[in-house]
Amino acid sequence: MDGNGRWAKQKLLNRISGHLKGVDAVREVVTACRELGIKILTLYAFSTENWKRPKDEVAALMGLLKEYLIKEGGEMLQNNIRLRAIGKIEDLPMDVQETLQETLKKTERCDGLVLNLALSYSGRSEIIHAVQRLLFESQLGKVKPEEVTLHRFSEYLWTRGIPDPDLLIRTSGEFRISNFSCGRWPIRRSM
Ligand code: FPP
Repeated sequence: MDGNGRWAKQKLLNRISGHLKGVDAVREVVTACRELGIKILTLYAFSTENWKRPKDEVAALMGLLKEYLIKEGGEMLQNNIRLRAIGKIEDLPMDVQETLQETLKKTERCDGLVLNLALSYSGRSEIIHAVQRLLFESQLGKVKPEEVTLHRFSEYLWTRGIPDPDLLIRTSGEFRISNFSCGRWPIRRSM
């Protein structure tokens, strides 16, 4: 979900206005995915690196996330959208975690579009988290080194049960994958 700041700068607006417009775009994209019958939409909304942004911008983003969950939670249920979240959810402010958990619970029986939010996420922290859990289980004797296959490893990832993405869109138009863990490299297409 990048490019919000650049969009705002182009329009001589502040960065928060860019993020507000970004949330409008999220609503449109979620509706379009639902209408097109897309099964899973992952929004890489907030990276582990994003915590380094100015305090007021981080606070505004957390506020926008909470507001989005409150406003859209009911609609998700109505539209059979199941919310999921990946990332270091424990890093989020407590009130945002609570709202997120409520929405996850509320939509857990929905079986239409899966809307997966990557929050305080990075591909590397996902791998580290998986390795830590594996080592822990290995200490308990629950897993042997020779049992660690690609399939078994994927069971320890936050994306467990979610297939590799077929299409990766960087909304700003950039091509690097910026610490998003995806199974394939992006293909550069001429537009
Ligand atoms: C990237 O734009 C956007 C973000 C870092 C945050 C996006 C998150 C929200 C708007 C919070 C609400 C989330 C949802 C899912 C509703 P940028 O600031 O990096 O823009 P730039 O790349 O042009 O600088």
